[in-house]
Amino acid sequence: MITWGISANSHDAALAVFTDEGLEFASHSERFSGIKNDAHLNKELIDYARQWGEPDEVVWYERPLRKTFRQLRAGQGWNYRENNVKNYLAGYGVHAPIRYSTHHHSHAAAGYYTSNFRDATVVCIDSIGEFETLTIWEGKDDKLNKIYSQGYPHSIGLWYSAMTQRVGLKPNEDEYILMGMAAYGDPKRLFMDIYNDFIDKEGIGYNPKIKIKHNLHRGCRWWRPELTTEQDMFDIAAATQAVYEYIIINTLLWASRNLDSKNLVLMGGCALNCSANSIAYRYFDNVWIMPNPGDAGSAVGCVLAHKKQFMPMPHAYLGYNIEGDYPVEKLVKELKNTGIAGVANGRAEFGPRAFGNRSLLADPRGNDIKDRVNAIKQRQKFRPFAPVVLEEYASDIFTTPVGPYMQYTAHCRYPETYPAIIHRDGTSRVQTVAPGDRSGIRLLLEAWHSETGCPMLLNTSLNIKGNPMVNNLTDAQDFATMYGVKVFTKAENDN
Ligand SMILES: [Fe+2]
Repeated sequence: MITWGISANSHDAALAVFTDEGLEFASHSERFSGIKNDAHLNKELIDYARQWGEPDEVVWYERPLRKTFRQLRAGQGWNYRENNVKNYLAGYGVHAPIRYSTHHHSHAAAGYYTSNFRDATVVCIDSIGEFETLTIWEGKDDKLNKIYSQGYPHSIGLWYSAMTQRVGLKPNEDEYILMGMAAYGDPKRLFMDIYNDFIDKEGIGYNPKIKIKHNLHRGCRWWRPELTTEQDMFDIAAATQAVYEYIIINTLLWASRNLDSKNLVLMGGCALNCSANSIAYRYFDNVWIMPNPGDAGSAVGCVLAHKKQFMPMPHAYLGYNIEGDYPVEKLVKELKNTGIAGVANGRAEFGPRAFGNRSLLADPRGNDIKDRVNAIKQRQKFRPFAPVVLEEYASDIFTTPVGPYMQYTAHCRYPETYPAIIHRDGTSRVQTVAPGDRSGIRLLLEAWHSETGCPMLLNTSLNIKGNPMVNNLTDAQDFATMYGVKVFTKAENDN
């Protein structure tokens, strides 16, 4: 039995393949089309997925008719034809029977069934599903029971996206940049202004209820037009992040008091907010965030919502495969010689972050490495680089929380030794690699540590500016040519 899970026709499309053996493949569409955050499927992705055979059924990640009604209510017209999934898939030559899951059920299932928890409180926060914007579920005995649902237009995610647009960034795409900018601003200057102008006080207390004063589907570029300087933008970002965290605190506090479980599963696009994610450990003993918690991860979640079957995710290496042994020796040699090396080997990561299979790696020590990597990546100064560290050394270098997927912020104990992997506010988004893990990045870190005494590398995604992460050998070659950085793809050849 072959089942495809698909999340597409909105933003950042993805496809997952399940066989009787479990989850075999999952990838963002963009990696195959070369179009960043590609909203649609493409022939290359579908052909690659067909390696496992023709699908017997497809599960779609949300309910199109409900979405159509919401779009109508939001003044976006009657999009029934555009939202017709059968026609959409037929356009790509996919004719299997289609089942549907609801948008937030897909998020909740992606988190709960990939976790190691049998009992869990599941919190999903995003911009919008069909109508839902925040849901809380109780996971118990393999079942998900919805406890709370917040409806459109009251959406903390939609508001955060509107603020992303207000500071001049792209909504539904650049929210992580707003989060990075927050460290450069003063949250106190505009906190009360933003809170009073956007958040309805009646909707705030120690409960998950959110009431937003405005319908923000068309953004809020109208807000405080006199704020135009770069520092104004940083201060808006800082206050936005602070208000957001205040609402997250209320939500998680309510969930921890009203549901029994001490295990939290956090999902939805908002679970990509590393600074806010760290708050979860104040109220829960254990936390699981699937490495791809946004809508693309729902390509996995919609299938699990139907299967109701636990499928823990030991890693995120589920995408396109570049065959060959991980080029450990070549990478160590290059990193020792030049301080920077690219790697594209094995299965690509499913999710927005690179964990060592499509990574640009660097020696994290010294003052010049950040500028050198930034010169290659050409990105804004307010976006920090992340460290990847042998798990057994993580507590020597960082506070908590840390984890294998760069989902939290922790403080570095040696900011002067490792300035490249520390953000303006002194925090780092740490990726740990456990001793039992036999992934390429683990083997590399072990070799790097034994050669240099340093248990850590700087790890950022291998992508040309404005393009998706490198997927195949051609992409890797293009990266190497464009930036003059060696990219190693396997141990065997003579790169
Ligand atoms: Fe979502």
